[in-house]
Amino acid sequence: MEKRIFLLFSVILAMTTAATSTENIARYDHYRVYFVELATEEHVKVFQKLEEISDSCTFYGHARQPGQKLHVMVAAARLADFDDLLVTYKVNYEILTNNFQEKIDLQSKDVMPKDVDPSTFNWDKYFHLETINSWMENLAKSHKELTSVDMGPSYQGIPIKGVKLARNASNPTIFIESGIHAREWIAPSAATFIINELLNNEKWKTFAENYNWIVFPVVNPDGYKYTFESDRMWRKNRNLFGISRGVDLNRNYPYHWNEIGCSDDPSRYDFCGTSGGSEVETQRLMKFVQDHKESDNIRTYIALHSFSQLIMFPYGFTAEKADNYDDLKEIGEKAAATIKRISGQTYKSGSLYETIYPSSGGSKDWAHGVLNIPITYTFELRGPANSPDLFILPADQIKETCEEAFGAILTIVEEADKKGYYK
Ligand SMILES: *[C@@H]1O[C@H](CO)[C@@H](O)[C@H](O)[C@H]1NC(C)=O
Ligand SMILES: [Zn+2]
Repeated sequence: MEKRIFLLFSVILAMTTAATSTENIARYDHYRVYFVELATEEHVKVFQKLEEISDSCTFYGHARQPGQKLHVMVAAARLADFDDLLVTYKVNYEILTNNFQEKIDLQSKDVMPKDVDPSTFNWDKYFHLETINSWMENLAKSHKELTSVDMGPSYQGIPIKGVKLARNASNPTIFIESGIHAREWIAPSAATFIINELLNNEKWKTFAENYNWIVFPVVNPDGYKYTFESDRMWRKNRNLFGISRGVDLNRNYPYHWNEIGCSDDPSRYDFCGTSGGSEVETQRLMKFVQDHKESDNIRTYIALHSFSQLIMFPYGFTAEKADNYDDLKEIGEKAAATIKRISGQTYKSGSLYETIYPSSGGSKDWAHGVLNIPITYTFELRGPANSPDLFILPADQIKETCEEAFGAILTIVEEADKKGYYK
């Protein structure tokens, strides 16, 4: 009897130890998120230097110019150093959160287990890649107008899956790419929501009948999987470069590649790869869109990201205006007005260069600049630019975010059609 109790005790002890020390999952206990205001050239220089040398401060964006605000996540061990820097250089700041792990822990309560029944898929929770893919396959089996499409395998051999909704072969096609940045979980939620609404909600009948839709919810499956199983904050793919991993796939497209707003260092979050189109996931997407552009008459390209609440259009690499800038601006602003009407949320529209920060090698610049797809937008979904959650959008906001994104996309399609883009 005593021996049995002792055994039981040992088992419990072993289990607790496993949970606290041997799980190989990244943790952000007492990591602080600062929103700093770079008021002067000196501030800009200080933060550029800091990003260059510090492994303990994670930047979301780069220090570029006075007047800019920037998220920096600071590891617990560096809090005193970082505070000293802010005081020394008189930098104004806000602390958005004192313990980032709490946000991750809170959200993890709303992540369904990997083996959940795919028929329970919904927009109140977050789901693993496996569930998203099974859900799409089941839909394709039960709807003859929906077919499974597959770009081929990722770097780690995971198929990049999507669906095509086509009720009439002569329709123009809207192409939607999402989940290129692994940690932006709301993006695959929005993509799957769009599929479901178009397929099952009579209200959008004309949109489902007059246009075809190709949707790939997770174009970076290796990265997405890694955010569920290893590090919630992972962004890139999982390609290996010595002691670092990952290319920022949205800096890897071969159009003005590696010009601005990216890094050629594999350890950085926005590493652009070794050449334009170097990554297998980039090549898969390029080939798919190239192969289908004419046959499916792809006239609109939408990319879904988070966060900052923006509806952006080309270009990212230059302040120069796209050929149809005025149309894109007008349509983007109408889409933002739709969102305001649906949920009251404020989204801003403009070229990527003028709204968020300059960057090159993005998929939408390639789609517009190389493939000449005229209507091309990148969404940054919720939360707002100063969100304390960063990419950890609470699950109770999934549905509303999806509804507003879908509404905005329908406005884009409607307005582009009125302007004759689908003729
Ligand atoms: C498909 O679209 C074409 C062109 O708009 C139209 O003429 C045709 O009637 C449509 N077919 C069906 C089955 O709706
Ligand atoms: Zn992104």
